[in-house]
Amino acid sequence: MRWREWAETETRSLHQQGRWRAPRTFDSHGPVGRFDDGKQLISFASNDYLGLSQHPDVIAAAHTALDEFGAGSGSARLIVGARSVHAALETALANWKHTESSVLFPSGFAANLGVLGAFADPNTLICSDELNHASIIDGARLSKAEIQVFRHRDLQHLESLLLTAGSRRTIIVSDTVFSMDGDHADVDRLIEIAREHHSLLIVDEAHSVLGPYPEFHDVAYLRVGTMSKTLGALGGFVAGPRTLTDLIVNRARTYIFTTAATPADTAAALAAVTILQSPPGAELVQRLRRNVDRVRGDHPSPIISHICGSEEAAVTAAAVLLDQGLLVPAIRPPTVAPGTCRLRITLSALHTDTQIDQLLAALRSLPSADPNTAHLQ
Ligand SMILES: Cc1ncc(COP(=O)(O)O)c(C=O)c1O
Repeated sequence: MRWREWAETETRSLHQQGRWRAPRTFDSHGPVGRFDDGKQLISFASNDYLGLSQHPDVIAAAHTALDEFGAGSGSARLIVGARSVHAALETALANWKHTESSVLFPSGFAANLGVLGAFADPNTLICSDELNHASIIDGARLSKAEIQVFRHRDLQHLESLLLTAGSRRTIIVSDTVFSMDGDHADVDRLIEIAREHHSLLIVDEAHSVLGPYPEFHDVAYLRVGTMSKTLGALGGFVAGPRTLTDLIVNRARTYIFTTAATPADTAAALAAVTILQSPPGAELVQRLRRNVDRVRGDHPSPIISHICGSEEAAVTAAAVLLDQGLLVPAIRPPTVAPGTCRLRITLSALHTDTQIDQLLAALRSLPSADPNTAHLQ
């Protein structure tokens, strides 16, 4: 079969399964924006949890960096792609995460591919939570280590898998906040287990804007993060003890063989992390906490699943909300397991009370969830 025919067959199959997707243009300032057809919507779909992508200091910092350094960084960090702003951001991220050092990557996805490739090899056992992000799954596969997947947050299962390692080095890798359910890993217990089993613990804190706030003592650990969510910019990083981060610089292929992030993105992230650690940043976090509580009291993160069950139910629910001017994506397989299709609601500190009232009223108008999946809400 020729490639064009193959692509047409695959395309038809995705259409038949109702899984064909295409990006839509949504020009927005904070949660309010317009689709390309002009329809105005309130978005509950962004990971810009604190609205820092719109903060005047963040925007000004990006402008200044453009003027000072130009648009692109021109090469990989180890060639001559590094500007002073890259080093300044690495220091700021290390301070934020209470680590000795940090290393920048062009994205969070690249950070996970890089860190797993740098530390895992065929003589390593990687134990990975079954709901970890795609970048962790791919990083583990690329490393050629043996991968054992433990049941979601089942730490007894994790321990039983670690016992099969024999003389191999072991890595435990977990999201701290899971990107589709918004639930937390028990990071304190993961630290204890890593310590007991002499494992390297790699946590991905991409969505940890409302905690957890773990403390890493007497354990080998690395903290992966992204600038694209809480910090409202673009880029990824790995923070940790210098011996480990220095090795990343020398081993991680997605660090070595890729162009450094743009000065403007880097400066925006630097301004954002500075705001986050100031009193106005603490106020934004409090506002986000209050907004989450209004939708689901005491929920641990700004990611809230409204489980619909079937793919059809989730797509219909998203369409009903869209009619009411609310942009909330339907999430379906392969992103989530069949039968657990959902609306993925993400909240921002910038959502107003009125916008949240609208969301709550719209959710109440939806048919109730399949009773078999009610426990997932
Ligand atoms: C848990 C997790 N890790 C990593 C990433 C990738 O981050 P980035 O968007 O910066 O590539 C994401 C993005 O969705 C994520 O949810």
